[in-house]
Amino acid sequence: MYQTHLNNLRQPLIANDWQNGVFQLNILVTGGCGFIASNFIRKELSENSENTITNLDSLTYAGNPSNCKDFEENPRYSFIKADINEINRLKVRKDFDWIVNFAAETHVDNSISGPDAFVKTNINGALELLKFCRQNDINFFQISTDEVYGSIEKGAFKESDVFLPNSPYSASKAAAEMLVRAYQKTYGLKTLVSRSSNNYGPFQHPEKLIPLFITNLLEGKKVPVYGSGLNVRDWVFVEDNSKMLSIMLNSGKTNESYNIGGLNERSNLEITRMLLKGLGKDEKSIEHVEDRKGHDFRYALDCKKFEKDFGKFKRAEFQKGLQLTIDWYKNNASWWKPLKQKKE
Ligand SMILES: NC(=O)c1ccc[n+]([C@@H]2O[C@H](COP(=O)([O-])OP(=O)(O)OC[C@H]3O[C@@H](n4cnc5c(N)ncnc54)[C@H](O)[C@@H]3O)[C@@H](O)[C@H]2O)c1
Repeated sequence: MYQTHLNNLRQPLIANDWQNGVFQLNILVTGGCGFIASNFIRKELSENSENTITNLDSLTYAGNPSNCKDFEENPRYSFIKADINEINRLKVRKDFDWIVNFAAETHVDNSISGPDAFVKTNINGALELLKFCRQNDINFFQISTDEVYGSIEKGAFKESDVFLPNSPYSASKAAAEMLVRAYQKTYGLKTLVSRSSNNYGPFQHPEKLIPLFITNLLEGKKVPVYGSGLNVRDWVFVEDNSKMLSIMLNSGKTNESYNIGGLNERSNLEITRMLLKGLGKDEKSIEHVEDRKGHDFRYALDCKKFEKDFGKFKRAEFQKGLQLTIDWYKNNASWWKPLKQKKE
């Protein structure tokens, strides 16, 4: 399906001869030492053998160079330590085909206690990247989130639905998307936007729900469940999200946004119980804590547009993806223990 689609491209990109099967993209990935982007780069380098990747990351507390260890020697990969806000002052190559912007402050709880950093990176940083793209004729891919739509009790959000973000984090991501839209409409910049649901898998910082709970249980600690635990999220395995992003990026399509969900809705309590079971613990390990301020009740995505444009995508079975994730954290205590100690 993926190859068939490549052969039917309508819009040739700079430096690529799609008709004759030469597909090479020079990609600047921002935030590549974080969770999703490091998984994305790994996939991109292994599956699209012509593409080159430059990773620009300022290495905040969430950026971990060891996430990139297994591909740092790859001749098609390079790393620049810098803030996205500095992009227009850096002496970097300017002949990229795409910037894929993963760099962000991402933890909702941090956005509630300190929103400024979220505005600086997620909004101002995105604007600097957009200016750089416009100046140098580079396409721009914004990695956004389902949280821009806000909460929904029934049904699922479509790409055309209005944005009603409820946290400083989701508001900053929604604002960035508005800038992307403005650059596309006003200056004709070629853009793509993905809005994915909650990702899970290896290399996720232990501040986030699934790795926090796994590592707490491995350390014999309790797991803090917000409020009733009935809030619902859709969960997508990070490798599936990476693959779907790669399909979008390598498709030749531009000026579209796509929902990327796992088609896998679970309440926080259900996730907690699955993790307890997977780690041989019982409900005595649950500690109910005060609910997050403005906690969205349910996120849900309608993913038919992606399917219509790129064909059916077979996602990982949740039980298997979760077990693989549990096993990864069991086997990589030396990766997560220092991160948890830093937080304490
Ligand atoms: N994790 C999820 O479930 C999820 C879901 C939907 C969308 N997203 C989006 O996906 C992207 C990646 O999320 P993640 O969870 O992998 O993030 P993460 O927190 O694991 O990593 C963020 C990375 O960005 C880097 N960074 C932060 N500020 C920077 C700056 N000013 N300049 C350069 N680099 C900077 C950090 O050092 C880190 O490497 C984000 O844009 C996020 O909004 C995440």
